[in-house]
Amino acid sequence: MTTPTIEQIYRHVSVRRFAPDPVPPELVETIVAAGQRSATSSNLQMYSVVAVTDPARRARLAELCGDQAQITEAPVFLAWCADRSRLDRVCRHRRYTQAVDHVEAFLVATVDVAILMQTATLAAESLGLGGCYIGAIRNHPAEVIELLGLPRLTFPVAGMTLGRPAVEPTRKPRLPTAAVLHWETYDDRDEEALVEYDRVMVETGVYRGRQVPVPGLEGEIEDYGWMEHSARRVSQPSRTELREVLRRQGFELA
Ligand SMILES: Cc1cc2nc3c(=O)[nH]c(=O)nc-3n(C[C@H](O)[C@H](O)[C@H](O)COP(=O)(O)O)c2cc1C
Repeated sequence: MTTPTIEQIYRHVSVRRFAPDPVPPELVETIVAAGQRSATSSNLQMYSVVAVTDPARRARLAELCGDQAQITEAPVFLAWCADRSRLDRVCRHRRYTQAVDHVEAFLVATVDVAILMQTATLAAESLGLGGCYIGAIRNHPAEVIELLGLPRLTFPVAGMTLGRPAVEPTRKPRLPTAAVLHWETYDDRDEEALVEYDRVMVETGVYRGRQVPVPGLEGEIEDYGWMEHSARRVSQPSRTELREVLRRQGFELA
């Protein structure tokens, strides 16, 4: 079963190469406005997005985000931020004090902005634009916060490059839905599905025929697949200073 919306969703692919034409501000507004139609926790709308077009600021963002060329190439960079600073202003207006010293206070804002940005992204893609999330915005969050003038009780959850796609990238298959969708209770018997997905991902060529040792089998090699890629990624701690930056932004996570 399908619908035009589902077909649009299936066309998603991260775009990292862009044509030089600018994205008009009205288009950015349309995209963000569409994102704002998403559900939001208690209608609190705990998000903001900073749209950056200035080449010098994008160049600095590129440096801070792992030197990703797509950030200087894309005409627009969007910084998707969890934002409870607006609610501080609301509380002041109504003479309340906002309670933010707990994990939930940060988590709800993060969920809100994640939903906003994905709806906005879908809207952008439906308009023929493309882009790529930039998790690397959290590589040097304190510097990004300063560069974008982000106030207390905001945090850049993800960045995004946005522009007119210059190439049609390979679409990456996803895990079989049976490995993701559990009925009634969680079922961890997914070994077969994972091995099959590993094979499918090797076939796409996104790992370009790299080979790696077979775990536990001396001297044997096999194609580098999704499991090796994923295991490598998650066995390294990353961005371990986030708690301190969050604390400085007013999120105690107690
Ligand atoms: C929160 C988030 C952060 C990401 N950060 C980066 C990034 O910094 N650089 C990058 O090239 N891709 C980044 N990506 C894109 C993912 O690598 C991409 O979505 C994934 O490989 C699946 O590919 P697809 O989007 O083309 O289907 C990010 C994606 C998400 C959801």
